[in-house]
Amino acid sequence: MALNFILNGERRSVDMRATMTVLEWLRGEARLTGTKEGCAEGDCGACTILIARPSQSGPTQWQTANACLLTMGQIDGCALLTIEGLARNGKLASAQEALLEADATQCGFCTPGVVLTMTALQQQGARPDTEAIHTALAGNLCRCTGYRAIVDACRDLPAAQPELPAELPAATDEHHAGAETFFAPTTLSDLLALRAHHPDAVLLGGGTDLGLGLSKGERWRKTIATGGVAALRAVDERADTIVIGGAATFTDALPALTRRIPAFAALLGRIGSVQIRNLGTFAGNLVTASPVADTPACLIALDARMRLVSVNGRRSVPADEFVTGYRKTVLAADEIVEAIEVPVPAATAHVAAYKLSKRFDQDIATVVAAFHLDEAGRLRAAFGGIGSRAARAPALERAWETGKISALPTAAIAALIAQDFPTLADDQGAELTRRRTRGSWLYRRQAAAGLVRRFILETEGTSQPLTLEAL
Ligand SMILES: Cc1cc2nc3c(=O)[nH]c(=O)nc-3n(C[C@H](O)[C@H](O)[C@H](O)COP(=O)(O)OP(=O)(O)OC[C@H]3O[C@@H](n4cnc5c(N)ncnc54)[C@H](O)[C@@H]3O)c2cc1C
Ligand code: FES
Ligand code: FES
Repeated sequence: MALNFILNGERRSVDMRATMTVLEWLRGEARLTGTKEGCAEGDCGACTILIARPSQSGPTQWQTANACLLTMGQIDGCALLTIEGLARNGKLASAQEALLEADATQCGFCTPGVVLTMTALQQQGARPDTEAIHTALAGNLCRCTGYRAIVDACRDLPAAQPELPAELPAATDEHHAGAETFFAPTTLSDLLALRAHHPDAVLLGGGTDLGLGLSKGERWRKTIATGGVAALRAVDERADTIVIGGAATFTDALPALTRRIPAFAALLGRIGSVQIRNLGTFAGNLVTASPVADTPACLIALDARMRLVSVNGRRSVPADEFVTGYRKTVLAADEIVEAIEVPVPAATAHVAAYKLSKRFDQDIATVVAAFHLDEAGRLRAAFGGIGSRAARAPALERAWETGKISALPTAAIAALIAQDFPTLADDQGAELTRRRTRGSWLYRRQAAAGLVRRFILETEGTSQPLTLEAL
């Protein structure tokens, strides 16, 4: 069956490879070349488009997405807006007018992506503040104009929302093209049955990790997408727990986390860019089992649990035990992550999550540190980036129990961390140490000790948490 979607207000029905990237299709097949290819890795934002998907959490809105990572199968049943669809009846859209007025374009390569990011920003209201502008633009690189003019263009933006289609087309649950099959189940039972029958298929969440292979020519014979299962997109805010569905994106989870665990939400706001957060899922972040992923250390410190499900039943695994080593998890071939259950800390607890990276936005962490000091004074501390996987720091936690940790010099705290993370012994560790990609192990250990010191100062009330404005 064909893939059905609405492109710039027009209904389209196309029969082609569902794992082709939207960027490749737009430029190569639809001949809409306003959407540019810069990096093909989700970094530059030149390929930014707007997508409206069926949503469980409120009215459908336009969201930015990187067309270089998104597959055609993922836009089935959705609406897209590219730069070609923005001006109407020969009249530029207000975001385009604003860029023009502010002289905010030079070579123009980034401009279509910037315009669509500004268009998404306009949905939040008129005259966005500096923080909202910086957050929105973090995923759009401009090599020649410089950002001052672009930021100026954003300041006076009126509120606006491009028209949403009255109805989205129905999605197809199975699509074949040549030797490729793309399954897009809409119920959990169908998803589990497919997983059991096709353990060799690629299980596709948002595609912000997997899509990197596709944009470099990788081919998948069988794909099962999780995004069509409405129950998995849900974020359930309960009295003492937030339950994040196995296909919920970072953007889906952000409102509940901002309300209930703001320190965690602040860290989430630094994952990639808005474009990446609109596509990337929590489950994908855990399953990739990268030692420098942002969420695992926080989930471990908060004592979160992973609910895993297959046709054979459910089991619940502590986040601390889910990842077993570099790129390894306990997930069986027929299992998926159904949900992540995050306990909400008591109001008197102190929670902190710190990400140390070379750039503030759109960068992978060198070290992630997460702390949960409960109302009884017990500490759960976890770190990412210093070992082969994110893990707790038992020696540090024991030292905290003595009540004397604040008297320790930072070098002694670094020695405790060295006990907890004695070496970067695996392949990835060796590579990181050799190339010093983002800092040697020694640096990471010292930096982690510095973050412990910061947490001590913040809990003692002698230091205010850093804010964006303070940087
Ligand atoms: C430009 C860019 C910037 C990034 N910045 C950051 C960053 O700052 N911090 C960070 O931590 N990460 C970052 N990432 C990595 C990525 O965005 C995250 O790891 C994201 O959470 C992956 O989720 P996804 O849904 O896109 O995963 P996918 O690419 O769809 O899948 C990743 C893995 O998870 C599996 N999977 C997905 N859903 C499930 C499920 N429900 N059950 C079982 N398995 C599942 C897939 O099979 C696959 O093995 C970045 C990526 C890019 C391209
Ligand atoms: S081409 Fe650079 S983000 Fe897609
Ligand atoms: S105007 Fe040239 S890259 Fe932005």
